[in-house]
Order: sequence, then C-alpha cells, then structure tokens
Amino acid sequence: MARLDAACTVDRYAGEGSMPRDEMIARLPGKLAMVSMVTDTVDAGVVSAGTDLRLIANVAVGYNNVDVAAAKARGIVVTNTPDVLTDATADLTLALILAVTRRLGEGERMVRRGAWKGWAFDQLLGMQLRGRQLGIVGYGRIGKAVGVRAEAFGMTVAHVSRPGSGARDSGLDRLLSTSDIVSLHVPLTPDTRHLIGQTELARMKRSAYLVNTTRGPVVDEAALAWALRQRLIAGAALDVYEKEPEVHPDLMSLENVVLAPHLGSATTETRTAMADLAASNVIAVLSGQPPLTPVT
Ligand code: DGY
Repeated sequence: MARLDAACTVDRYAGEGSMPRDEMIARLPGKLAMVSMVTDTVDAGVVSAGTDLRLIANVAVGYNNVDVAAAKARGIVVTNTPDVLTDATADLTLALILAVTRRLGEGERMVRRGAWKGWAFDQLLGMQLRGRQLGIVGYGRIGKAVGVRAEAFGMTVAHVSRPGSGARDSGLDRLLSTSDIVSLHVPLTPDTRHLIGQTELARMKRSAYLVNTTRGPVVDEAALAWALRQRLIAGAALDVYEKEPEVHPDLMSLENVVLAPHLGSATTETRTAMADLAASNVIAVLSGQPPLTPVT
C-alpha cells in the first residue's frame, strides 16, 4: 500500500472481506488499475465496468477468479504473483501430508478434549513416508517444489503434467492407482473442474490419501465425502474448498480429514512478496513499462 500510495491515488476498500460486486462495478470507472484478491470475482460484467482499466493485478498465482479472456478482449493486462509463493505453498503441502498421514488432527483433538489417557504402543498409528509414492497432479513450479521436499522424506515421486484435457487420461489413471498420496497442483480451468470425482477416487488405493492445496473445485467435494465415508481412500487433507469458506458438512465430521483455511501462501514473507509484486506490476503498467508477471 505504501508503494502504491506513493505512486498513485488509491481508492481502497475498507469493508470486511471482499468488495460487493455492485460496489466494484460502481467504483471501477475512472480507475486505471485494479488490485484483486482470490476472493474477488472479476467476471466479464465487472471487467466491462472498468472503462478506463489498463491492468488487473491479481494478488495470487491462480487467476481463475478473473475473466482473462474478457480483459484481453478490452486490451486490459492481467498479472498474477507466480514464483514468490512456490516455497510457502510446497511447505504447506508437506505439512498437510504429514498431518494427515500421522493423524495430527485426530491427536490434537484428543488432547484438547481431555481424552488422552497417556502414551500407548498402538495409539494413532499412521503411515511412514519413506518408500511411499507421491503422485503429483500438475507438475509446474509448485508441483516440482513439492516433489523435491517429498524426495527428502524418502518418497518416490510420480507426476502427470497436464491432465484433464478431455479424453480419459491414462497417465492420471496410472498415477491414481499406484500412488500412496496424491497431491493436486493443477490450476483451476474448465478442463480441471472436478478432475477428481467418484471415478478417480475409486481408482485410488484404499490406503491412499488425497491432498488439495490448489483450488477447491478441482475436487468434487461431495464425491470425496462419499469416498471417505465408504473408506475407498484412507484420508484427505484440504486447504481449499468448492465454496469457500463453506466446507461440505460430511467432511467436518470425519476424523481422517485435515481441514486448513486456505493457508498455502500464508507466511509473512510470502504475502509481503505477493503484495510487492502486485504493486510493482501496477507501477510498471501505469508508467508505461511492461508488466513483470503478465498472465499469458
Ligand atoms: C494463490 O496464490 O493462488 C493462492 O491460492 C492465494 O494465496
């Protein structure tokens, strides 16, 4: 904010959460740039209200909340914040993998409700990572960073790069049926919406875990709740949900699910770097320079 305030006049939303869509539409005319968060839906209607807009700077690596085609059609540049959040998101993915396979959520709840009766030889036994296969769906920056970390834990890594391109994907099928943990790192696009549904969950090993730190709608949440109830998979760890902040009620009551509140990039260092990159994009474009990280 300090960098933007020094470079331009800023109309800042001071309300709770996201700016309501009507207000966004009312406040956009006359604005040259818009800084949006993942929780702001910048659809075609909002874009068209930005009659003077040159830039939409989304403070996230994912940009499924912005209608990029509508922006491009009006000559508006869209930028995101790649790279700076890779480590934080990969770290959180490993945290979730460890949490679900070592049953940390269950253990913590047990301690907090006073139900822990002391150390026991066979208490809350989990799954060791060494020698297990991690299947990475979406092998971009974050997927690769997760793979490096997993190898440090002694896991083998399998990956598919661009699943969900229409026809049944044999690479994805093989990865699902052979992996002990499946971690999702594809962006949300029309092709990857509900990439993991009943069929895919049924392909996974009964002893396997699903981890989602990308976007909620990549997983059919109702199908996941079904698969967990049917014990078709051993557990799941989620940082993202189909209708955030709502969580499927069945997931809330299942012990073998770790639920995090969209914390992938939530470190002070990373959020500062994301904000800084978005500000740099605004300042560059408003001063006639090319954007640093355009969405292509
Ligand atoms: C992203 O960058 O896409 C995250 O989900 C927001 O932190």
